[in-house]
Order: sequence, then structure tokens, then C-alpha cells
Amino acid sequence: MAFNKKESFKPFDKKIWLSSPTMHGDEQRWVDDAIQTNWVSTIVININEVEKQIAEYIGVKYAVALSSGTASLHLATKLAGEKLYGQARPNEGTLRSRKVLCSDVTFDASINPVAYEDGEAVFIDTERDTWNMDPVALEKAFEIYPEAKLVILTHLYGTPGKIEELRAVCEKYGALIVEDAAESLGARYLYKGEWKETGAFGDYNCISFNGNKIITGSSGGMFLTDCKDDADKVRKWSTQSREDAPWYQHEEIGYNYRMSNIIAGIVRGQLPYIQEHIDQKRAIYERYKEGLKKLPINMNPYNTKKSVPNFWLSCMIINEDALCQQIRDDQKALYIPEKGKSCPTEILEAISSINAEGRPIWKPMHAQPIYRTHAFVTATGNGRGQSNAYIDKGTVQDVGMDIFRRGLCLPSDNKMTSEQQDRIIEVIRACFE
Ligand SMILES: Cc1ncc(COP(=O)(O)O)c(C=O)c1O
Repeated sequence: MAFNKKESFKPFDKKIWLSSPTMHGDEQRWVDDAIQTNWVSTIVININEVEKQIAEYIGVKYAVALSSGTASLHLATKLAGEKLYGQARPNEGTLRSRKVLCSDVTFDASINPVAYEDGEAVFIDTERDTWNMDPVALEKAFEIYPEAKLVILTHLYGTPGKIEELRAVCEKYGALIVEDAAESLGARYLYKGEWKETGAFGDYNCISFNGNKIITGSSGGMFLTDCKDDADKVRKWSTQSREDAPWYQHEEIGYNYRMSNIIAGIVRGQLPYIQEHIDQKRAIYERYKEGLKKLPINMNPYNTKKSVPNFWLSCMIINEDALCQQIRDDQKALYIPEKGKSCPTEILEAISSINAEGRPIWKPMHAQPIYRTHAFVTATGNGRGQSNAYIDKGTVQDVGMDIFRRGLCLPSDNKMTSEQQDRIIEVIRACFE
């Protein structure tokens, strides 16, 4: 059995994480500052400072610091819903049964806000060049659902999607964009001849400072926009929607979504290190690429001319003819080891056996039990119900499920040494022996 081959590899004494926080010392200074000045709340200096610095860094006019990327995505989606369909009653979402066209291979936090706002996510298949939303499938979706007016798109694992094409389709159909740049802070894209940061391409943009992101506050997120009214509205909603009155007066539903000054202190300490983290992640990606080049695999792809990813997670995908048999149900996975072949389950097991952390690719949203009844659109049209018991069309498989089936995320922690990464590479190679 292939697994035996890996028994000779010594496990790491200290676990190698997929992507863990990297503190530099300045974080402590700003947290201490908040405590010493007694600003242990959701106002002032650290918050103002991180909002200013992030807005400048990304090239947007306004940033609103929130408790998480999810909170930011929720308020961005709600704002888009209100803009498109008007203010909702207190017990209703702003999207009320409206269709929203969403990235399919993403974290569910990207698209759950559609459900929070009573809308219906329609999932758009993925393209193979960057593993992001396919502009061709998006156009098909607008043909099928011309009433759709909102698109939520993610830049997967720090790799910008085909922004120019996606925006052109959205403009053609008059749709707004919520851009989920939670994983891609610091990634850039050449848009109409000008380099711009991800997080500056949508009508409403979101980033995350979750503990595993390129920089972190332990948690936290931000809403980004060029529109002052939108920034003011999100800030108001995030602090319980208090109206201008001497008492607590409410005209709208509110949330407790504001970032704390302590979290903002950590983010403030991290901000000078974005590029250093990106450079370290890029070196990890390149090292995997080199170390795995003789295997029947490819690294997660990106457009080398039009984009510079932040390389948040290094991923690989196994060639079809080098894939051993692997079966996944809703909770467990099994595989049959085969000489010269492997599969994500085997590689993840092997990585885990040496005390390192990998992860499957995000399971596509259209295949999640909770969203199985939702529409799914591929480059050729409706992605549901396309096989036929009486007519053999071969195996029908969408791109998202194919990447999920053959791909995996590799340990991408920026504190991993080259020697440690070499051992991980050796273990992956052993899986194909
Ligand atoms: C693509 C994507 N969207 C949204 C989120 C949610 O961000 P947060 O954890 O800050 O709520 C994450 C990660 O956590 C993510 O990876």
C-alpha cells in the first residue's frame, strides 16, 4: 500500500499549519496603546488609522472596519439589495426571493448573506485559468435569468479572477458587484491598462482579517467603497442603526458588527507587513512548483501577464490520468492506492501523517446539501439534470467539481522553513510512487 511508503517520514515536532497568524511585535504596541488610553471599545484611534491606511493601500475612498469579513459581506449584500429593490420591512431581507449570481467554488461565508437577506443564490461555474467565476457561464446565467441584478464574486485563494471580462458582463446586464476579496488582500490585477488592487473592483467590496489570512487581527473585516453615503450607511448599520437623537432612536434594523479598537490595534501592527507576507507566500508557491514539477500535477493557475496574486494558499491539481480511485460521500472519503497514481485524500492523509495541515479545495456551493435545490449554471447553460439514463453522453462534470475532485490546498504557512517544505514535497512525491 502506498501509505506504508510514507511511514518512513519523520513527523514535525511542531505542526506546520495551512496558514497561521504571524505577529511582528508592533501589534502589542497598538493593543497596549488602546488599553493604556482606556479606548477598549469600538471607537477611535486604531480603528480610524486602519481604515485610513487600508483605503489608501487598496485605492478606495472609504473603508469601514467591521467584526469580520462575513459581517462585511452581509452588509455589502444588504446594501446592494436595498439599492436594487428598496428598503425592506424589519422582518424581511432586502433580496426577498431575488436571484443573485454567485461564485460556486468559495467559502460559504461569501454567499450565505444572500440567504440572510431572503434572496436566492444561483451558482456560476468556475473557469480553469484562475479557478474563479467563469465569465462565459455568467453571461449564460444572465440569458437564463435576465432579471438578476447582483453578482457576488470571490478571488479564490488570493488569485484574481477574470475581472475585466466579469465586469464587462455585469455592465452589459446592468448588475451590481459585491467583490469578496477576503482571501486576496494585496493581490493586483491589470485593469484596462492600470494595475489595481483586488477589493477595488466591485460596487461593494469586502476583505477579511481572519486568523488565517495574509494579515490578521485575530478576526475582523472591512467594507470598502468609493461612495461616502454607502460607507456611512454601513457604519451606521454596524453600530445598531442609531439615529441622530438624544436617546436610542431606530428607523432601521441594526447590527453589532463594528470592529473593536483592540482588534484594530493588531491589524494596525500587521499592516506594514503585507508585502513581506506576500513575498514569503510567493516563495512557498515557487518552491512547490519546482519541487513537484516532475509529478503529473499542476499548481493553481493564474494569469502571469494580467495579475499578481498574493499567493495566500498554494494548491495543486492532479492530472486525470494520474488520479487513483477516490470516493467521497457527505462526510467521509476513501481511496484505492495505486502505483504511480494518487488523489487528494491520499495526499492530505500523508501530509497529516507528518503533522502538517493541508485542506481539500472548497467544495462547490452547488453541491452543498443546503444549496442542492438552487440553480447552477455552466458555460453551456443549465448545470442541473444534464445526464440521461437512456442517452450516453459520457460523464458530465462541471469545472468546480472537477477541481474539488482532483485538487487540494497545500501547507502554505509563511513561517515554514525550506527544509520543512522539502519534507512535505518528499511526502507528496512518495504518494505517486
Ligand atoms: C472567500 C472568503 N469569504 C469570506 C470569508 C469570511 O471572512 P471572516 O472569517 O473574516 O468572516 C472567508 C474566510 O474566512 C473567505 O475565505
